Amino acid sequence: MLRSEELQRFLDAAFVAFDRYAVDTRARQSIMQLFSILESAQPSRPGPGKRLPVVDRFLAPALEIQSDDVVLATLLDRFKAIEEQLEWKTRSIYDHTASANFLLGHGNALVVGPQALEHRTDAWLGASLLAPDVRYPDHNHAPEETYLVLSEGEFSQVDGEWFAPGIGGSFFNPPNIKHAMRSGTKPLFAFWALLPETPHH
Ligand SMILES: [Fe+2]
Repeated sequence: MLRSEELQRFLDAAFVAFDRYAVDTRARQSIMQLFSILESAQPSRPGPGKRLPVVDRFLAPALEIQSDDVVLATLLDRFKAIEEQLEWKTRSIYDHTASANFLLGHGNALVVGPQALEHRTDAWLGASLLAPDVRYPDHNHAPEETYLVLSEGEFSQVDGEWFAPGIGGSFFNPPNIKHAMRSGTKPLFAFWALLPETPHH
C-alpha cells in the first residue's frame, strides 16, 4: 500500500501549519522544498507502531494544548490519528549535556524518513516528546531543520541563550548547527522537518 489517507491528511495539516508559522526565510524555503518532495508517496511500513512508557504517560497531556488555533488543533488531531502506527524511539547517543532522566524521559517518532512509518531518505518529518524537567543533549546533524513547537519548553542553538518559542513558535537550524531543548514543569512536544541536501533540486 502506498500512503494511507490518515497519513496524507496529517501531512496536509503539517504543511498548512509549517507554512503558517515558519517565518525564517531559510525555513520557509526548506519546508516548501520538503513538502514538494513529499508529494510523491512511498510505501508505508505495515503493522502496528511501538510506544514507550514516557509516551503512555505524557503524550496525552502534552497534546491537550490550550489554543483555539484551528490550524494547530487540526494538526494535533491528525497526528493522534496516526500516532499508534508510529515507532517511538529513544536517542541512544548522548553525553553529559543530557539530564540524568533523559533516557527514560523522552521519545522521538519519525512519521516520514529513514525507517519511519513512510520510509524515505529525501525528507524527514517527526516529533519529540520530553517529560517534564528533561534536558535533551546537545546534538547536530547534516540536514537543515525547521521546528514547529506545540508546547511550552526551551531551545538553544550554538550555546546561545535558551529561548521559548511557545505554542506555534518556529525556528530554523542550519546544517550541522549545535542545538538542544529542555522542558520545564510541563512536557515538551514539538514537530521537526529535516531536509537533507538534495543535489537534484
Ligand atoms: Fe535536531
